Amino acid sequence: MKFSLFALAAFALSAVATPTNLVSRGSSTVVIDDFKVITQKSMDLNTVVTRIDPLNFLFQGPKVVNGLQNIVQTAQMALADVNTPPMDVFPDDVQVEVVDVLTTFVKVHQALLSTLISKHGLLSLVPFFGPPIAAALRAIEAIVDEIAFGLIGMIPNQKGPAMLQIQSLDSSLNTTIVIYS
Ligand SMILES: *[C@@H]1O[C@H](CO)[C@@H](O)[C@H](O)[C@H]1NC(C)=O
Repeated sequence: MKFSLFALAAFALSAVATPTNLVSRGSSTVVIDDFKVITQKSMDLNTVVTRIDPLNFLFQGPKVVNGLQNIVQTAQMALADVNTPPMDVFPDDVQVEVVDVLTTFVKVHQALLSTLISKHGLLSLVPFFGPPIAAALRAIEAIVDEIAFGLIGMIPNQKGPAMLQIQSLDSSLNTTIVIYS
C-alpha cells in the first residue's frame, strides 16, 4: 500500500547490505507505523471527547462520529498492509516490538472508550449520535479482529500476549457498543 520512491530506494540499498530478513523488516515497519498512526488518531479523538460538555455537545457529536469513522478507514488501510505479501514471520525482537506497540494501541483505545462511556449521557441526548458511534465501534472491532488474525502469522512467538491484548480491547469495545446501542 505504502510504496514511495524513497522506500523503494531504501529497500534497494538495504537489499545490498542485508539480504536476509529485509522484506519482513520492511513490512514490519509498515505494520508498526500503521498501529502508531491509529493510536495517535485515537489519542486526538480522546481529547475531543474529553472536552464535550453540555454547551458544546451538539457541535462535538458529529466530530466524534467523523473521528471514529476516520479510525475505521485507517484501520482498513492497516488491514490491507497486514494482508499484503510478503507475510513473513518477523524476527524475534520485532515480534516483541509489535506487541509493545499493540499494547499501547489497546491502552489508548480503552482510554477513548472509557471517555466515550463517560460522555454517553450527553451524546445520547441527540438520537442520531448513538447509532453511528455504535456502528463505527462495531466496524473497528471487526477490522481489529481481522488485523489480529493476519498479524498472528507474523508474530507467532508472541501469539499469547498479542491475543490477550486483542481480547482485552474486544471486551472494552463490547461494553461500549452495548451502552451506545
Ligand atoms: C464481543 O462481542 C462479540 C459479538 O457479540 C463476541 O463474539 C465476542 O466474543 C465478544 N468478545 C469479548 C472479549 O467479550
